Amino acid sequence: MSSPLITATAAFIEQKFAGEGSGHDWAHIRRVWLMARRLAVAAPEADQEVTELAALLHDIADWKFHGGDYEAGPRAAREWLRSQEAPEALIARVETIIREVSFKGLGVETPVSSVEAALVQDADRLDAIGAIGIARAFAYGGHKGRPLHDPAIAPVAHDSFASYQLNTAPTLNHFYEKLLHLKDRLHTDAARQVAQQRHAYMETYVARFLAEWDGVDQ
Ligand code: ADP
Ligand code: NI
Repeated sequence: MSSPLITATAAFIEQKFAGEGSGHDWAHIRRVWLMARRLAVAAPEADQEVTELAALLHDIADWKFHGGDYEAGPRAAREWLRSQEAPEALIARVETIIREVSFKGLGVETPVSSVEAALVQDADRLDAIGAIGIARAFAYGGHKGRPLHDPAIAPVAHDSFASYQLNTAPTLNHFYEKLLHLKDRLHTDAARQVAQQRHAYMETYVARFLAEWDGVDQ
C-alpha cells in the first residue's frame, strides 16, 4: 500500500540513513519494509499502514546508538508522526511496535502484542541472518572496533537486557548469542520459510570460518 504518510516517511528515513555504516542504514530499513510487506500477504488481518510505518521507523533512534536509551526510538517516531499530523491512535500503535521489536538477549523473551509487531519483528530478524546478516554483523563489529573472533572468549546466553547491552564480545560470538537462534524465534510461517535457507547458509559459513581460522579447511 502507499499512503502519503508512508511515502513521506520513507523519504524522510532514506535521507536520514543514507550511507550509514553499521548495517543499520537505509538499505536495511528498506529491506525490512519490503519483507514486512511480503510477510503481510499471508496476514490479511494486519493493518498495512501500521505495519509499514513501524517497519520504516523501527530503527529511527536505536538504543545501540543512543547510549542504551530504549525510549529514544519511540520518542523520535512520535515526533516525526506528530509533525505529519498522524492520528494519536496510529502513533501509539507504531510506538508500541518499536518498543517490542528489538532482540534483548538469548535468555530474554520478546513477546509481541499485535500481528503488526510480529510481522515487523520477523522482518527485522530475517535481515539479521543469511548472507546479508553475516555482512551486517561484521559491519557492526567493525563499527564498534571489535575483533572478528577470539576462541578464548566464550559466547554468553544473556539473561537480561542490561547484560546484553553491556556485551563487547568478538563478532563471531554474536552468531551463538543471537543469529543462529533467530530461526526458532519467529512468529509467522512465512518468515520461517524464508529463514530456512538463510540459516543453513549461516551455519555453513560459521563452520568454514572456524576451519579457516585454524587453517584446516579443505
Ligand atoms: P535488533 O533491534 O533486534 O538488535 P537491529 O535491526 O537493530 O535489530 O540490528 C541488529 C543487528 O546489529 C544484528 O543482527 C547484527 O547485525 C548487529 N549487531 C548487534 N549487536 C551486535 C554484536 N554484538 N556483534 C555483531 N553485530 C551486532
Ligand atoms: Ni533493524
